[in-house]
Amino acid sequence: MKTSIPFLGVVAAVAAVAIASPAAAGDAENGKKLAQRWCQSCHVIGANQPMAVTEAPPFASIAKKPEFDEAKVAFFLLDPHPKMPSFGLSRAAAADLAAFIAGQK
Ligand code: HEC
Repeated sequence: MKTSIPFLGVVAAVAAVAIASPAAAGDAENGKKLAQRWCQSCHVIGANQPMAVTEAPPFASIAKKPEFDEAKVAFFLLDPHPKMPSFGLSRAAAADLAAFIAGQK
């Protein structure tokens, strides 16, 4: 079991970072999965997707806005405005989605 000890150390370090960091440090890979599940019906969430709902801005254009801010998007997603359903996202899920959107620049 010698080999598992350094691995556990890495897991503990990653967990500590995840707990210590604020909402903005999201996991874009997980955000992509969440977006495919919850956001794709209205938003274009990436390349190779036909237009969804015309009213909903594609994630790429959200990310390219000059005032785009990952932390603000994460915060926005905790309490979306009326045109968007409320998903009851956790802080971690909102941060992951924001990180995914930020990656579309
Ligand atoms: C039922 C359709 C619908 C779904 C599902 C939906 N959205 Fe939206 N979203 C909209 C619409 C419509 C707007 C534009 C609202 C407006 O301009 O007033 C919007 C706006 C936004 C904005 C703000 C853009 C800006 O200009 O500030 C973000 C960020 C966003 N959506 C992210 C998401 C994410 C992430 C998900 C998945 C968790 C999601 N949306 C799911 C319809 C949807």
